[in-house]
Amino acid sequence: MEKLAINGGEPVRTKPFPSWPVVGEEERNNLLEVFESKKWWYGERVKEFEEKFADFQDTQYGITCTNGTAALEVSLLSVGIGPGDEVIVPPYTFVATASAVLRVNAIPIFADISLETANLDPIDAEKKITEKTKAVIPVHFAGLPVDMDAFNNLAKKHNLKIIEDACHSWGSKWKNRGTGALGDCGAFSFQMSKNITSGEGGIILTDNQEIADNARSYINCGRGKDKPWYEHCLLGSNLRLTELQAAILLGQLTRLESQVLKREENAKYLNERLKGMLGIKIIDSDDSRITRRSYHLYQFRYLKEEWREVSREKFLDALQAEGIPASSGYPHPLYKNPLFLRKGKGPRFCPLSCPYYGKEMDYNQVSCPNTEKICKEAVWFSQSVLLGDREDMDDIISAVKKIRDNISVII
Ligand SMILES: Cc1ncc(COP(=O)(O)O)c(C=O)c1O
Repeated sequence: MEKLAINGGEPVRTKPFPSWPVVGEEERNNLLEVFESKKWWYGERVKEFEEKFADFQDTQYGITCTNGTAALEVSLLSVGIGPGDEVIVPPYTFVATASAVLRVNAIPIFADISLETANLDPIDAEKKITEKTKAVIPVHFAGLPVDMDAFNNLAKKHNLKIIEDACHSWGSKWKNRGTGALGDCGAFSFQMSKNITSGEGGIILTDNQEIADNARSYINCGRGKDKPWYEHCLLGSNLRLTELQAAILLGQLTRLESQVLKREENAKYLNERLKGMLGIKIIDSDDSRITRRSYHLYQFRYLKEEWREVSREKFLDALQAEGIPASSGYPHPLYKNPLFLRKGKGPRFCPLSCPYYGKEMDYNQVSCPNTEKICKEAVWFSQSVLLGDREDMDDIISAVKKIRDNISVII
């Protein structure tokens, strides 16, 4: 038996995986052009990127903004969500999915995810609907599209808006249509770790002209369409993307499609080889309605009971020692964050204690068992790992197998 690297043996690999972001001449040339034009604001590059990205996601309108958090807030405002409204969200996501709801003075209500996909479960979401529910924000988590048919049916049945949190799903397709405007609108992030990035940045996509006009106004100080520059119609903010960011994004966009396909091919290879391994449950879906999957993360569940009770953290340390970078993801469901557990500790803040809602929301009572389980079991590989070659994928498989074979002697 080969000795584990964590026990002092030779690691499976010492070579680094591909670094992120990938940049090239496209970004450099675009940036220089914008720099020299001295038009760094409100210009042609932003417009060009909005059109090209909307087209890439099979959508009519694109409105860029400062980041994915702003894109979610603007989406909520643009579809008419406000004080006292309830919005159903998953607890297995970045905080912005829920905090954006609070930022527009509405109330996030948590529904559980599916253990198989880590995506919001439409059946549990329906159970959380009340007369105050106005919207649902399903997250295409890790780039895996949610069951949009189920969510659009819910919307029809209960008169709800669907805002897709597409901050992980640039390039993913549901029934051959890009994520982001499969519901009422969708929010994307271009933050540094994301599969297309300008350091910070975001976009709202929609096929609905009224939502698009609202979003454009909210991100541009509440200015009205075709109205004088100093006429302000909505309570907006300045959330505009710069020309320099758009110049980088246009460069990044030239590589996005081929990177999506490369990650998809590598993930398929990993799935085939890791699927049957005892103690590993791949988090993915073979739903044929998912016609393209853009992987932001490659994920599986580590079932400790099948690994002689060796903790996930120890497994991750062993993997790291073999030269394979992976992480455990969110430590707990969103509702366990101090932001939500304010009971008895300092002042409550609006909207959680404001008269619009008519009652006190107590997140101490929330329980989403699948989310709690996945928080304890998930193993995440970042998207850039999936840009490696076949040999790199084989190293991941070899390292997992090596740990599996030596689990009884792990120190
Ligand atoms: C699922 C999800 N939603 C929203 C966001 C917010 O995006 P940003 O960081 O660009 O504000 C993120 C980013 O990390 C995210 O992962």
